Amino acid sequence: MNDVVSAIKDDHRRIEVLLIALHDRGGREQTVRELYGALTAHTDAEETEVYPLIEDGISPREAEVLAAHEAHARADILVKSLLDSSPDSEDFDAILADLEEVITRHVEAEEEDLLPALAASSSSEQLGELAEAFSTRRADVLAELGAD
Ligand SMILES: [Fe+2]
Ligand SMILES: [Fe+2]
Repeated sequence: MNDVVSAIKDDHRRIEVLLIALHDRGGREQTVRELYGALTAHTDAEETEVYPLIEDGISPREAEVLAAHEAHARADILVKSLLDSSPDSEDFDAILADLEEVITRHVEAEEEDLLPALAASSSSEQLGELAEAFSTRRADVLAELGAD
């Protein structure tokens, strides 16, 4: 059975591939739309299905959870700014650098701290059900955005 930690990590790797692709100025408009869809669906599925359980299970990590919500909000603002920026501009490069920094730090916090804590406090059956809920929600948001 799939587990939610693997599902989220796989999605992080997809997002990282899109960020790397954006370093190439060719095709940026298409890639930034893909990144917007991928990030929006990922974050929505995490916030809706996964973070409520993280919050229940690991109250000593309140500061880390708060930082995660802030990183989600900041990444959302930055990816929307990218959508509004000319792909050839220096602005685009600067916003992309900020977005990569926010995402890199946040992915590290999830993969090294929050997700292992969730895994430690859940059964493999719960992690499987959560993977299902995460993937379904992610697919629903992508469909709503017309990006699936
Ligand atoms: Fe994530
Ligand atoms: Fe996240």
